[in-house]
Amino acid sequence: MLARTDKEALMQQRGCAIWMTGLSGSGKSTIALALEKQLHAAGHLTTVLDGDNVRTGINNNLGFSEADRTENIRRIAEVAKLFVQQGIITICCFVSPTVAIRQLAKDIIGEQDFLEVFVDTPLDVCEQRDVKGLYAKARAGEVKDFTGISAPFEAPTSPTIRLKTAGRSEADTVQELHQFIAPRISRD
Ligand code: ADX
Repeated sequence: MLARTDKEALMQQRGCAIWMTGLSGSGKSTIALALEKQLHAAGHLTTVLDGDNVRTGINNNLGFSEADRTENIRRIAEVAKLFVQQGIITICCFVSPTVAIRQLAKDIIGEQDFLEVFVDTPLDVCEQRDVKGLYAKARAGEVKDFTGISAPFEAPTSPTIRLKTAGRSEADTVQELHQFIAPRISRD
């Protein structure tokens, strides 16, 4: 039977889950896609899991109650684990708003394969950006249980890395993350 290390040797990399947590609109997916592009260009095999490809597919029966968010993250973490065990660098972009939910993901994936990236963008900045118009809807009461407005966001107290985005360029933020990740996905 082929081992994970055989696959990692083939790809010249170490698999891991890069778990991006942060408010809606904090920049998780934008940073993830830019990081993925750079890692790909450097010869790595990667994948990105985010709301766009997960909540419309495998998790299309889940909403935003605490129970549904927990189930959302549980399934995502199980899927991420399958990828990581093939040696793939798996970038996960989910609000994952509570300590307990992120702990669940870490427990499923395994601490040694789990890098917690806190995309630390203040609520007022996310709300000002309001890329999807959801903050306005949440303020108007049209979207319920909205993270940061009418549902909690517990900021990570000791993430693997904290990425500030406010007042800096996307390129700068992505470069910081790439430099941090590089030695962790290398086989040397
Ligand atoms: S999580 O809480 O279960 O981790 P997830 O990352 O999958 O959330 O989905 C969050 C995305 O769904 C947000 O970026 C936003 O676009 C959308 N969304 C729709 N309704 C809500 C809501 N009530 N709270 C948070 N995000 C919501």
